[in-house]
Amino acid sequence: MKRLDDYRMTLGNHELVPIMIGGMGVDISNTDLALVAARLGGVGHISDAMVPTVTDRRYKTKYVKGKLAKYKTNVESADKSLVQFDLGELAESQKMHVTKTMERKEGDGLVYINVMEKLGMNNPRETLKVRMESAMDAGIDGITMSAGLHLGTMALIADHPRFRDVHLGIIVSSLRALQLFLRKTKNLDRLPDYIVIEGPLAGGHLGFGQDWAEFDLLKIVAEIRDWLAEQGLTIPLIPAGGVFTGSDAVRAIEAGGVGVQVATRFTVTEECGLPDRVKQEYYKAGEGDIEVNMISPTGYPMRMLKSSPAICSGIRPNCEAFGYLLDSKGHCDYVDAYNRELEKVRDEEKIRVCDKTCLCTHMRKFQCWTCGHYTYRLKDTTVQEANGDYRLLSAEHVFNDYLYSTDDQILLPR
Ligand SMILES: Cc1cc2nc3c(=O)[nH]c(=O)nc-3n(C[C@H](O)[C@H](O)[C@H](O)COP(=O)(O)O)c2cc1C
Repeated sequence: MKRLDDYRMTLGNHELVPIMIGGMGVDISNTDLALVAARLGGVGHISDAMVPTVTDRRYKTKYVKGKLAKYKTNVESADKSLVQFDLGELAESQKMHVTKTMERKEGDGLVYINVMEKLGMNNPRETLKVRMESAMDAGIDGITMSAGLHLGTMALIADHPRFRDVHLGIIVSSLRALQLFLRKTKNLDRLPDYIVIEGPLAGGHLGFGQDWAEFDLLKIVAEIRDWLAEQGLTIPLIPAGGVFTGSDAVRAIEAGGVGVQVATRFTVTEECGLPDRVKQEYYKAGEGDIEVNMISPTGYPMRMLKSSPAICSGIRPNCEAFGYLLDSKGHCDYVDAYNRELEKVRDEEKIRVCDKTCLCTHMRKFQCWTCGHYTYRLKDTTVQEANGDYRLLSAEHVFNDYLYSTDDQILLPR
């Protein structure tokens, strides 16, 4: 049987090892993890989700404190429309995040940034433009547009000097979403450099309804592959979601991919940004401990561990400090849900909000344990220590296991 290392993935003018580590916000796919993928010749992703919060933690900036101080009189108000991000600070923070990553890059691989459209930040157009332009200014190799249809996103950066040299990719979960995207970007005379096709078994938000289980990744890949061929279009396809072994990856390439995007296997690596105690929760999870629910205020279904502290927590919205999910009108579904419960209970201490969660605060604190469907198999990828903990893996070990394994086997750490 073939192994993944028998293939190479060409994106733009770069020949790469066919492994892309997917973006995982907030700082879960962090700089260290992305740099391993690049060093080994593949593609790593950082994420720009909540980037000012990330640079505060990593590089001691004070953006969150400053924003909260500026808007603190609004904390009790249900109307968050006046809480705006300072675009200059946002640019500064994004540039810092990307520069400090790219400065450390070694090897022949690439580092991309995952940019989610659903992070409207109370000013969707302008904040998205600033995030993308600042990432390009700071030398990012590529931008993966995710969590949204991105119908107007490429146009926002069409005047940037790097528009035609930076790699641009889009994540879709259906042919229809891809068709819409290509139709809307046609007049820019610039196709995406790659398309990540994310199936229903992925981690994070899903591009499906609650009927996600009825879809099959490789069928969607074949459908998109055939349609592109009919149109005479050649765009590299990168299947994602549930690619758990090197052999899964080979099957995904044989179905029409040039490489794969993977994430869940890397959540239990030493480099991954999750705290070690959370990595143990991922390891311990059984199949019944994972659910797809609708608590994300984005409106997309999201897969997570049922034991996530984010579920049914009733914390006060934190939009003055964060506010990443506020749409163009300053609206977030969690703010509504929280105020509805506050009205009923009238005691902040006792509030439980189960239909939505404050994703900003909980992602910031690593309390929303989003994960791929096969998280329950992670325990089979390692050994257990005498104290019962599962051993963390190096990202290089997992990367090489994808690359060199055959027959659906997984190499355990020594
Ligand atoms: C913990 C976690 C967080 C994720 N966060 C994001 C994200 O912020 N943006 C995004 O586009 N995809 C996100 N994803 C999806 C991954 O980038 C990837 O496409 C998908 O999980 C691949 O499937 P796999 O996890 O089964 O390998 C996340 C996945 C995980 C496991």
